[in-house]
Amino acid sequence: MRILTSDRLLLRPWRDDDADFLLDLESRWEVVRFLGAHPTTMRTREDALASIARRRALDHPIHGIWVITTVTDGRPVGNLLLKPIPLSAGEPSGGPADVEIGWHLHPDAWGHGYATEAADLVLGDAFRLGLPKVIAVTDPGNLASQAVCRRLGMTDLGRTTKYYDSPNRLFAKLPR
Ligand SMILES: CC(C)(COP(=O)(O)OP(=O)(O)OC[C@H]1O[C@@H](n2cnc3c(N)ncnc32)[C@H](O)[C@@H]1OP(=O)(O)O)[C@@H](O)C(=O)NCCC(=O)NCCS
Repeated sequence: MRILTSDRLLLRPWRDDDADFLLDLESRWEVVRFLGAHPTTMRTREDALASIARRRALDHPIHGIWVITTVTDGRPVGNLLLKPIPLSAGEPSGGPADVEIGWHLHPDAWGHGYATEAADLVLGDAFRLGLPKVIAVTDPGNLASQAVCRRLGMTDLGRTTKYYDSPNRLFAKLPR
């Protein structure tokens, strides 16, 4: 998986020595509460290590799951993903899967524009590499994430139940 850099951020593959950070991140209800139909907090360092192994297993020329770090001191601040999105049960699966972008940041790193900067970097890279479309789904109550979608210039396509077995607000972006 490639390394991506912007003015303030460096996105790299997750490593085992990020386990303490990942546990700190995903053991927080305010970070996971909008993720999927049945959000759960992470409990143990072993769970974090297993999750890191799954993240690294997504080895693809365009898709990826990156840890977002700051350029100045290498401090991890969150997670950025670009990957095929799971359909809700019963949804017909004709054709290639839609590709979603997603973000979750440590609360200490909210309010600095890091989610938007990291996502903008990944979107630009993915479109340069030929990805034809990216979508994002957000819980209808997740206004902070919807604001990120709008800052990224994504189009609000309204409510959908097509993904993750849950109602979501759908956003999409095409290459310029
Ligand atoms: C969704 C989430 C990533 C949004 O984080 P965020 O920090 O609000 O989003 P951004 O990175 O776009 O930062 C924007 C904020 O930084 C501020 N900011 C400060 N410096 C900035 C800069 N240089 N550039 C841009 N924005 C900057 C903006 O004013 C804005 O703050 P405001 O909302 O108080 O006006 C965060 O709330 C989160 O991790 N939530 C939990 C996980 C989650 O729900 N993920 C989404 C699942 S769909």
